[in-house]
Amino acid sequence: MLRFLTGGESHGPCLTAIIEGLPAGLPLETENINYYLKKRQGGYGRGERMKIESDQVEITSGVRGGLTLGSPLTLVIKNRDWANWEEYMRAEPRGEDTKRTVKRPRPGHADLAGGIKYRQYDLRNILERASARETAARVAVGAVCLSLLSVLKIEAVSHVTRIGSAECGSVPTWEKIKEFAPLSPVYCADRQAEEQMIKEIETAREAGDTIGGIFEVRLRGVPVGLGSHVHWDRRLDGSLAQALMSIPAIKGVEVGAGFRAAFEPGSKIHDEIFYSPEKGYYRLTNSAGGIEGGISNGEDIVLRAVMKPIPTLKKPLQSVDIETKKSREASFERSDVCAVPAASVVGLAAAAFVVARCILEKFNSDHLEELREAVERYREYARRF
Ligand SMILES: Cc1cc2nc3c(=O)[nH]c(=O)nc-3n(C[C@H](O)[C@H](O)[C@H](O)COP(=O)(O)O)c2cc1C
Repeated sequence: MLRFLTGGESHGPCLTAIIEGLPAGLPLETENINYYLKKRQGGYGRGERMKIESDQVEITSGVRGGLTLGSPLTLVIKNRDWANWEEYMRAEPRGEDTKRTVKRPRPGHADLAGGIKYRQYDLRNILERASARETAARVAVGAVCLSLLSVLKIEAVSHVTRIGSAECGSVPTWEKIKEFAPLSPVYCADRQAEEQMIKEIETAREAGDTIGGIFEVRLRGVPVGLGSHVHWDRRLDGSLAQALMSIPAIKGVEVGAGFRAAFEPGSKIHDEIFYSPEKGYYRLTNSAGGIEGGISNGEDIVLRAVMKPIPTLKKPLQSVDIETKKSREASFERSDVCAVPAASVVGLAAAAFVVARCILEKFNSDHLEELREAVERYREYARRF
């Protein structure tokens, strides 16, 4: 079973991820992981912190000579800001030092609920781990999964479809997303919408405000039969939605037609089935987003996620000082104006992990070659079914 854990605070020394269950023989390069880390840090609308951090992964176990060993893979990303925080964040006891403590919880953050739950009167003890800085570790894990998927001829892309009221005109093709989204400052494949999106971000910045949006993740080449209808927690759509919802600030997920399905009759929503000896079973439409009954059906998997506006505001919202109980403005931490482009990279990573986990669940293999052969054999079987 493929699984991972991450550890690390936002201003601690580093983030660590340990992945278990990868087959031996998978080629891995730090440069490829760093590409996705850089993308997560980029995107129009990000704050000052991203200029300090230039994430680089270090692989400290599980790989030798560029190939995985089948042992736990450990990924470490140093926090370059650590030098400025060591005095306040070190593991050793600190005495009564109150510098950089947080007493005014920010609405929209884990600060207050987490403080009450864990009995922490310095809310920094909550926000350090609740921070989306942790998603750098998840992106590193996702980059490894994308390498595995690519060997199995499964491709994945993500792109931004909406920021505030600026939206992609029409649904861009796979090719357009692949070509244009990586070059766009907002990771959008539609040039006209991109301009509007940048304007929306600038308007929010000037007002001391923040803004959210929507991104889409697509996977192509996913074999039919991942996930299952037999139990609620084995459904592929459920697992993917959970992975996307677990990204900080994601408040909704759609699969395929998603919420549009509420407004259309069945005759317009369901994807009719066709067959040809070359392709096997196929569809001409994909409202199901590649998943039927919790099982992948061989079509592109299409997921969309809604991100709320960033909750730390330059013009802070009203809050309460947890010591004095007096009304105060919420505390301010250096912050992004819009992180939808960055979240689209996290979403890509999250979906890649789930699909890689389902692949290994179905085709459990100790070596990559064994896995590749099993997937190819199965694809041939499915084509002729
Ligand atoms: C890539 C990314 C970057 C984020 N950057 C910030 C930020 O700079 N400031 C902030 O207040 N929230 C930021 N967030 C959102 C918060 O982490 C999130 O809203 C908060 O942890 C509360 O979780 P919830 O929104 O899921 O309830 C970011 C989220 C993501 C995915």
